[in-house]
Amino acid sequence: MQIRTKSVRTESRILDHLITPYGGTLVNLIADGDRAAEIREQSREWPSIDLGQRQLCDLELLLNGGFSPLRGFMGSADFNAVCGGMHLADGVFWPLPVTLDIDERTADALTIGEMVALRDPEGVMLAALTVEEIFRPDREAEAAALFGEAESRSGARARFLKRAAPFAAAGRLEGLQLPVHYDFGELRLTPLEMRRKFGRLGWRKVLAYQTHQTMHRAQQAETQNAAREVGASLLIHPVVGLNQPGDVDHYTRVRCYQEALSQYPAMFARLNLLPMAVRGGGPNEAMLHAIVHKNYGCTHFLVEQNGEGSVLEVIGAPGHGDAEAREAVSNHAEELGIEMVPAEEMVYAENRKRFIPSADAAPDDRILSLTGEDVRKRLGDGREIPEWFSFPGVVRELRRRRPGRNSQGFTVFFSGLSGSGKSTIANGLRVKLLELGGRGVTLLDGDLVRKNLSSELGFSKEHRDLNIRRIGFVASEITRGGGVAICAPIAPYDSVRHEVREMVQPCGGFILVHVSTPLEVCEERDRKGMYAKARAGVIKEFTGISDPYEIPEDADVGIDTSQVTPDEAVREVLLLLEREGYISAVEAE
Ligand code: PPS
Repeated sequence: MQIRTKSVRTESRILDHLITPYGGTLVNLIADGDRAAEIREQSREWPSIDLGQRQLCDLELLLNGGFSPLRGFMGSADFNAVCGGMHLADGVFWPLPVTLDIDERTADALTIGEMVALRDPEGVMLAALTVEEIFRPDREAEAAALFGEAESRSGARARFLKRAAPFAAAGRLEGLQLPVHYDFGELRLTPLEMRRKFGRLGWRKVLAYQTHQTMHRAQQAETQNAAREVGASLLIHPVVGLNQPGDVDHYTRVRCYQEALSQYPAMFARLNLLPMAVRGGGPNEAMLHAIVHKNYGCTHFLVEQNGEGSVLEVIGAPGHGDAEAREAVSNHAEELGIEMVPAEEMVYAENRKRFIPSADAAPDDRILSLTGEDVRKRLGDGREIPEWFSFPGVVRELRRRRPGRNSQGFTVFFSGLSGSGKSTIANGLRVKLLELGGRGVTLLDGDLVRKNLSSELGFSKEHRDLNIRRIGFVASEITRGGGVAICAPIAPYDSVRHEVREMVQPCGGFILVHVSTPLEVCEERDRKGMYAKARAGVIKEFTGISDPYEIPEDADVGIDTSQVTPDEAVREVLLLLEREGYISAVEAE
């Protein structure tokens, strides 16, 4: 007993030396053993909410104190105060809403005062929510807080507004356990564990470097420089929750960070993974990150400055790189209570054989640079990544992850009206790709999917979207495995086609083909007699007649089968695949 008291005192002395958590106290919402047993016992009859990836990330940071002083998902008072004036209802500065979003059906099924089990996708109960409020968040106001005014984020803003759930639930939150992670367990310290570690290491000044991308020599030099400038140790704190489409998967990134970590002087830097969902990339997000890093015990926060065309374009948390974000964090530095360290842009001076701050570059320095796009292209084509740019171990990891396009999987997604010729071209393409050999080819034709995968679905927008999501999921798995998925549904709606692109792209290639045969031609053909029935009103919600078809703005190619033969159409797709590097030369006929 005596020994325990002593160790508790020692620990509190260690933690006292660290920066105070945001709002004063580090929140811990995990219920103690008795209460947890009681909750488990009572929960058998409760309704459940199955959390999505974003919600799981938010829940983890609420339960482990990363979002201190928040003690749960926001209710309307906090939500409105945050969107309206960047403060919680009690006056504490807070930049972005953190809500538990729910759809209308879930909202209708919940009753105020009842308890709900919050579960992960496998059904494990992570927390109990006592529902105190169900409200309709003002998503326009939230979008303004998330994305700011920048034109560059208008697409993300529009997608957010299209997808945002209409309701949110709030109330007392009691945790049973943190979300389970099977990967890199030793690198997933909670804020309290991180603070203990800093205490044991004797680190008081810690610079947080947050990134969602890979680290190369420039980032290593930049972070080492910045930490030295302010006399701090370095915490590399990458986000590994929900990333942006196109980001390198976190398994690869973590192996790259481990490689980069070995390049710092001994005892200089540590690596920890931040289970955070990247939101909109606006300036307020940078401030939310600052709060989270502070709760993990960091005193300083490195904010990137991206320069178009510089090597730094490949680094940096989204949005931190623009002046707006840097300004936001420094304007609120006092309220945030964490020091913002602007990153100095580093450039490689070939004559000096090292990275130097760009401000120190002399006119006769020979500066080399490589953009993020250059690096992606070089990796894609299997070309060399220069030694000055990255560490051999990092390049090896990136190459292992993404072999050249000629051995990657890919999806060809045809979209077009009924009778436009999708199935004909898709079948022709399948045969040609099998002739070329090298990859397995799977055809997910609209009718076949409807028969085998979506037989219970009709043609409402909701059902069509679900059907396309299913196709997207299967296609992404095939692509991940190195195969070819050819999809040929009508897929009339733009937003779900985007979703599919975002699902597939992290796994390999994605090509969208708009089969743009005009409606009059499709109707004239009317092979299945469906247009006649649709005109007569026998078939309802028929695409092109009584239901919309949104023309894809982002198609990689458009094919009008009233102008080309099926063979020509197939050849056009093959040539595109060849140009993009997915297949090798298609011989001339
Ligand atoms: S969707 O919108 O992408 O989910 O449609 P999809 O799965 O491709 O299914 C389209 C085929 O179903 C037949 N069909 C209809 N199409 C459109 N609207 C309505 N209401 C409808 N009812 C049945 C139609 O034959 C489509 O087949 P294809 O091969 O495209 O002609």
